[in-house]
Amino acid sequence: MTPVNEHPGEVPSSARKSIFRATILNPLAPERIEFFKDGALAIDDGGTILAAGEYRPILRAHRGAKVVDLAGRLVIPGFVDAHTHLPQYPAAGLHGKQLLDWLDSFIYPAERNFTPRAAARLAPVFFARLLSCGVTTAAVYCSVQKESTRIAFRAAERSGIRAIIGKAMMDRNVPRFLRETTEQSLRASEELCREWNGADRGRLKYAFTPRYAPSCSAELMREAARMARASGAYIQTHLAENRAEVEWVRRLFPKAASYTNVYENAGMLTERTVLAHCIYLGARERLLIARNRCGVAHCPASNLFLQSGMMPLREMLDSGLRIGLGSDVAGGPTLDPFATMRTAVYVATARALAPGSRARARMIGVSTAFFLATMGGATALGLEGVTGNLAPGKDADFAVINPKLFDGGCGVYGQADNAETIVSQLVFLGDERAVEMTFVRGRRCYSAEWSERPSR
Ligand code: GUN
Ligand code: ZN
Repeated sequence: MTPVNEHPGEVPSSARKSIFRATILNPLAPERIEFFKDGALAIDDGGTILAAGEYRPILRAHRGAKVVDLAGRLVIPGFVDAHTHLPQYPAAGLHGKQLLDWLDSFIYPAERNFTPRAAARLAPVFFARLLSCGVTTAAVYCSVQKESTRIAFRAAERSGIRAIIGKAMMDRNVPRFLRETTEQSLRASEELCREWNGADRGRLKYAFTPRYAPSCSAELMREAARMARASGAYIQTHLAENRAEVEWVRRLFPKAASYTNVYENAGMLTERTVLAHCIYLGARERLLIARNRCGVAHCPASNLFLQSGMMPLREMLDSGLRIGLGSDVAGGPTLDPFATMRTAVYVATARALAPGSRARARMIGVSTAFFLATMGGATALGLEGVTGNLAPGKDADFAVINPKLFDGGCGVYGQADNAETIVSQLVFLGDERAVEMTFVRGRRCYSAEWSERPSR
């Protein structure tokens, strides 16, 4: 890779404002991507966005700003991974089993290995990988170990990424080596929440993480929800991912009207709740989620990898739900958000083409996938005022993409001058090799070649 200028992204500390000159893609709504071919992103030295638009007017409006020339590059908002599992990273790519067998065979043993020593090795790699893929925000599950979760927070803090992290809570129906008492689980989670929720001016947040209804007693879920409300922290869990899981929940909670109703009864459906998968939901359950303004993490790659099913994305979007994309590693095989975006398009297409389907109306396009991977994710996590696109006043969370590096740098791409072509190639040809730099709050947290050290 040959950089166009010598040190792109280097911003001298004396400059109060910086202007990044590049082609800008700014997702506003599922089908509305703002596009400036010769564009600019202006940020202040506190890492806040001042403007995104045409280069010349922005240059005039911010005289004296340091100009960083990113000729030939795209500046896009950082991606949001709305659902992923840190301790499962070494168990990614193990195909062939469905959810409940997969958890028993591969995942619980992997999570048993999430000792503090393992966490100290794994967490920096995990966050570095997310940043190198252009991900600036992630909602992350750890396993039950308190100290390992603390180590994960420290690694996230050092890496510069924006993250919502929680210790998994499980007091039943899991192997003894991961099972906690209800009291232990609550105390450890409360302690971590006290330590980390809101750290670094809100860059790090805590999520109470009752794993899913089968591994949690009603009391555990109720108390976790109460603690989350009291502290303003998040709740994250899995919902209706797999038919056998749904049937199991029906047997475990015979009085509940539905799986979603189990969480409703526990007080878990809040504006700060993120529900992963949501494949097998009835119309009433969808309404319940919409009414409580919960976020939904759509995990299309995981849903295929674990043979779980296909979430009705188009219908869910039409219900007004707040939806983002999740890698769900290790349910999904990769942290790469480009892979998750194109899988979302493929899955919606496969669903639309299935016999008996009302065909094309249910497909989604590349703009929707790009929106879901950025602004949709931010909205699902209640961070729409902070990140997700390049609106003035938001934190400067963005990635610099070099289209010349699409498809491994074959040199054929990168000349397009219209948004449709660029977004389409971004979604279908992009991968982490095309990500040159990633910034969170204006701080460079990843650089492909020029420097390993973050700088402002
Ligand atoms: N349901 C409960 N735990 C998990 C998990 O770790 N991954 C996925 N995909 N689904 C789950
Ligand atoms: Zn998951």
